[in-house]
Amino acid sequence: MSIRITVLGATGRVGALVVRQALAQGRQVTVLVRDAGRLPADLPGRSGLRVVTGQIDDPVAVAEAVSPAPDAVVVCAGLRYRRGHPWSGVAGRSDVVPAAVRALLPAVPPSTRLVLLSAVGVGESWQRLPWIARAVIGTSSLRTAYRQLGAAERLLAGVPNPVTVVRAVTLTDGPGSGRTVNATGRPLRGNPTVPRADVAALLLDCSAEAHQGSRVLVAAA
Ligand SMILES: NC(=O)c1ccc[n+]([C@@H]2O[C@H](COP(=O)([O-])OP(=O)(O)OC[C@H]3O[C@@H](n4cnc5c(N)ncnc54)[C@H](OP(=O)(O)O)[C@@H]3O)[C@@H](O)[C@H]2O)c1
Repeated sequence: MSIRITVLGATGRVGALVVRQALAQGRQVTVLVRDAGRLPADLPGRSGLRVVTGQIDDPVAVAEAVSPAPDAVVVCAGLRYRRGHPWSGVAGRSDVVPAAVRALLPAVPPSTRLVLLSAVGVGESWQRLPWIARAVIGTSSLRTAYRQLGAAERLLAGVPNPVTVVRAVTLTDGPGSGRTVNATGRPLRGNPTVPRADVAALLLDCSAEAHQGSRVLVAAA
């Protein structure tokens, strides 16, 4: 039977790639979006796609998006900035990821795998960032973005579900390498980057794995 996943943040740059890759693999995908018009028009295998429209923190909308219970939920939402860059302030709510996780947790059974896209620099990984990255984060709304990702990670720390947190280094657009970007345990040098397409592939791999308990991975090229 085909793996069923729900994607939160599906209209984002990583989220749309997760949906695209999942559909190309023949998975059944449900997305919860506030504006279906923001989904790419050219998604493959659209018959495998179910679109639920609603707010990401609305318990009723979230419950609909995870009913019937999917094998996994992939959360790749993130802050939007007023003019697209983190020195322009946050557009809308500044706690979108923990708000989504808070709405999600009561709605999924303990068997549903939860996969969260987070960032290297969150929690104890702050020390792994080069000083220049810490300075950029500290002086922009990235600080808010990292803080709310930390809150989401903490919410997931105590749940019975299998959880994978994928902390990515700086994301880039353009084609993926097709190689795994699971760099957990590897030293990070300089200011590392990783293509969004490769991160999407890693998130999808994580959504289909069989491990129990919770773990934190690092995504870097
Ligand atoms: N940029 C980096 O270098 C980097 C590095 C590591 C980790 N990350 C993290 O990776 C994640 C995804 O990144 P990305 O580039 O794919 O993000 P993105 O393109 O900005 O997408 C953000 C997603 O979150 C949704 N969202 C934002 N505010 C919302 C709200 N109030 N209600 C409902 N949905 C909302 C957006 O929906 P709409 O389309 O409806 O706005 C969109 O689907 C983020 O958490 C980011 O912090 C980023």
